[in-house]
Parts: sequence; C-alpha cells; structure tokens
Amino acid sequence: MIYPIVKYGDPVLETPAAPVIEFGDKLKKLVDDMFESMYEAQGVGLAAPQIGISLRLSVIDTSFKEDPEARLVLANPEIISMEGTQTGGEGCLSIPDFRENLTRGKRVTIKAQDVNGNWYEKTGEDLLARAFQHEIDHLNGMLYIHRLSSLKRDMIKRKIRRLQRQGEW
Ligand code: NI
Repeated sequence: MIYPIVKYGDPVLETPAAPVIEFGDKLKKLVDDMFESMYEAQGVGLAAPQIGISLRLSVIDTSFKEDPEARLVLANPEIISMEGTQTGGEGCLSIPDFRENLTRGKRVTIKAQDVNGNWYEKTGEDLLARAFQHEIDHLNGMLYIHRLSSLKRDMIKRKIRRLQRQGEW
C-alpha cells in the first residue's frame, strides 16, 4: 500500500515519536509499505511520522533500488558517534520543492533494530550519514528547516503559508 506523504504543517511531523515495541507481521507489512511509499515519492529515506504514524521507525535506501543491501530499516535508532562535517543540499519529502544547504556530520555510526527486532550497528559516510541524521531528526519531531538560520527558516515558512493560502500545499 502506498501512503500519501504528510506535509509540513501537520503536527505529527513535529511530535517526538513513540518507540517500536512489537516486532511482528504488522511491522513487516508497515516496513514494506514504507519502502513502497518512499520509492513512489522518489525519496532515499522515509520516517513513519511522514505517513502519519508516530513511531520511531525509518527506512533508507541511498542506492534507490540498485543495491538490496542498501535497504535499511531503522527501528528505535540512535546515533552513537559522529565525526567530521559535510555541507550540501538537503531536502525532505514533507517539504516538497525546497532544498537548502546544511552542514551535517560526515561519518556517523548508529545503532538500531531491524525489522525482526535485532540490534545492529552501521556506519555511514556522506549521503548515508546525512540520511541517518535527517531520519533520526524526524523521529524526534525535528525537521531540517529547524536547523537552518531563523532568517532562512522564516523565508521558507512564509512561502509555504502563501502556498497553503492558494490551496497548493
Ligand atoms: Ni525528511
């Protein structure tokens, strides 16, 4: 099932999500649906709050279907170490058509549970490191625009409000 992506303005995106407690068939189905919804939206990462489900669950595939091993399920993820910095463009499926430069950690190690509930650790660099940080932010109710300067953020919010008034958001 393909879920519609929740857009900025919906409070679920700015609410810290609840831990995943039950690992079973229902979660497997949700994870499959999240991958399907992410690919449909042309994204490389999707967090459950972005489909209106306030759970600490994200999926990532920075290879966009090229490499099955790049398909990652992050349940209850946490950053355990971060090194260096990278500055580059970042966007979000919930804030379509906007993209801003943002400085993030360059090399990030996370621990998370997979779809079966098994804990694993994974280190990512560059795009994967950025995806880890972006997705874990989502689960904490944080969006990338919250990490921009207030000037930039206010400019984006004004543009979004205008789009909302025009019924285009
Ligand atoms: Ni996002």
